[in-house]
Amino acid sequence: MAAPTPTVEPGDPCCMVLFGASGDLTKRLVVPALYNLTVTGLLPDDFVLLGVDIAKRSAADWVGSLRDMLEQATHGTGEGHLTAIDDAAWKRLAARMHYLQGDFTDPDCYQALGKQLETIETKPRKGADTKGNRLFYLAVADRFFAPIAAHLGKAGLVTTEQGGPWRRVVVEKPFGHDSASAKALNDDLLKVLREEQTFRIDHFLGKAPVRNILALRFANAVFEPLWNRATIDHVQITVAETLGVEHRGSFYERTGALRDMIPNHLFELLAMVAMEPPSAHTPDGIRARKQELFGAVRSIQPADAVRAQYAEGPGGQAYRAEPNVAADSTTETYAALRLEIDTPRWQGVPFFLRTGKRLARRMTEIAIRFRTPSLAALPRAVQQHPPANWLVLSLQPQEGVALQFDVRAPGAEETLAPVSLQFHYTDWFKPLPNIGYETLLHDVMTGDQTQFRSTDMVTENWRAVQPVLDAWRTAPDGIATYKAGSEGPTAADQLIAGQAWRPIGK
Ligand code: BG6
Repeated sequence: MAAPTPTVEPGDPCCMVLFGASGDLTKRLVVPALYNLTVTGLLPDDFVLLGVDIAKRSAADWVGSLRDMLEQATHGTGEGHLTAIDDAAWKRLAARMHYLQGDFTDPDCYQALGKQLETIETKPRKGADTKGNRLFYLAVADRFFAPIAAHLGKAGLVTTEQGGPWRRVVVEKPFGHDSASAKALNDDLLKVLREEQTFRIDHFLGKAPVRNILALRFANAVFEPLWNRATIDHVQITVAETLGVEHRGSFYERTGALRDMIPNHLFELLAMVAMEPPSAHTPDGIRARKQELFGAVRSIQPADAVRAQYAEGPGGQAYRAEPNVAADSTTETYAALRLEIDTPRWQGVPFFLRTGKRLARRMTEIAIRFRTPSLAALPRAVQQHPPANWLVLSLQPQEGVALQFDVRAPGAEETLAPVSLQFHYTDWFKPLPNIGYETLLHDVMTGDQTQFRSTDMVTENWRAVQPVLDAWRTAPDGIATYKAGSEGPTAADQLIAGQAWRPIGK
C-alpha cells in the first residue's frame, strides 16, 4: 500500500512582528526556524516578518546579520546545525523581512507599528498579502512581556472581531519566577488577550523525539499495558548539559537550575510520559489530560530536593568564576527532585527529575525502570543479583529508544546478562531540517495550541515546586558543590536511595 500523502499545509498568511529582532533568541532559534520552514514549504506563501528593535540599523543590515548567523550554524555541530544554506530559500525569506527601529517601552513605537501594519495590510505587495493576520513574537527579556502586551492592547493592535483576522501573541520562558509572579503575569496578559490568543512556548515541545513519546505509548500494544504502577518501579528524567552558563551569568544568577528547567521543560517531559490517553486527539483533549496530570503532581517537599553548584573540575572553571556571577553566589546549577503523582496509574511510583550544567556528558533521557519480577523459578545465584529491565527514551543528543532486559549468558554457569534492543532515529529516517522551533511556529500560524502551555498548567507547575523555592530562598550554610565535568553532587544519591541514578558519563 502506498504511503499516505502528507497533509500538512503551510501556515496561514500573516505578518509576524518580532520584538527583540536583534536579540539572541531571534538569531539562534526564531530566524533559523523560519528559514527551515521556508525550505520545507511550510512557511505561508504570503508572509511578512517585521523585526522591531531599539538598535538603529537598516533592514539590509539586520537581514545581513541574520544571514551571517545562519552561515555560522553551518559550521556548528550542535542543535541548529545546518549542512548548507539553500540560497533560493534564504532569498525568499529575506525578501519578506522588514525592520522597524523603536523602543518597545515607548507608546510611540506602537503608533509607528500600527501605521506600518496598516500599510502592509492595505497595500499588500506580491507574496505579502497577510490578510490582516498578526503574530506578535516576544523574543525579549521576560520583564517586557506584560508591558508589551499592555501597549499592544492600548494601541488596539491585538483586537479581534468575530470572523475577522487573527491576532496571536507568543511568549517565551521564563514565565514568572514563582507562583505569585506567574499569576501576576498571567493576569496582565489576560487583561488584553484571550487565552486562545496566547501561545506560551516551551521549545522542548518542538523536539521531534519529545513529540514521539505519545505515539510510542499509545500506538504500541507492547508498551501501553505495562505503563503503570503494577509493573513500573520508578522513572528517571534527566536533562544533563556539558555547557556552563556561558554569557548568561546575570540571568542565571537570579534564576538557577530549578526555575530555568524544571517547572517547564522537565515537567513537559513528565507530562508526556505520565499523562492519561486523551479521549480524542484534539488540542483540548490533549491539553485537558496534561492539565489533569499537572494537577495530580504532589507539591514537592524540601526534603525531596537537592541542589548544588559546579566547582572547578575537568569540565571547566567554577560557576563562581563565570562572568557576571557573584564570587559568593549560592545559585544552584544542579537540581534534583523526587516527586509523586496522585493518580490510580501512578500512586506510589516515584519520579526522579534531575538537571544540571557542566555535567559529564550531554544527555536528555527518560528512563523507566520496571519492577523486579518473582525470581522463584530461577537459580539461587540469579536471585542474588536481580535483573533490571529498563525502557530508555533518549531525546538528546542521540534520538532513539532502548529496551534493556536480561538473558542467560552462555556457558555452564547460571548467570544472567543485560542486553538491549535499540532503535536509533537516524538508522530509519532521514533527518529533517529541524531545530525544534519550526513545528511550534507553524502551530502558531495555524492556531493549534496543543503544544503550548495554558494559564492553568503554568499555575500548577509553579505550585508543585513552590515549597522548594521557599526553602531555597536562602542558603545559610553556603551551597554544596560538584566538580565541573562530573556526575553531579553525591547528595543526589541519597534522594534515590535504594536505587541508583543512571550514569551520565559513559
Ligand atoms: C533553556 C535554558 O530554556 O534550555 C538553558 O534556559 C538550557 O539554560 C536550554 O541550556 C536547554 O535546551 P536544549 O534545547 O539545548 O536542550
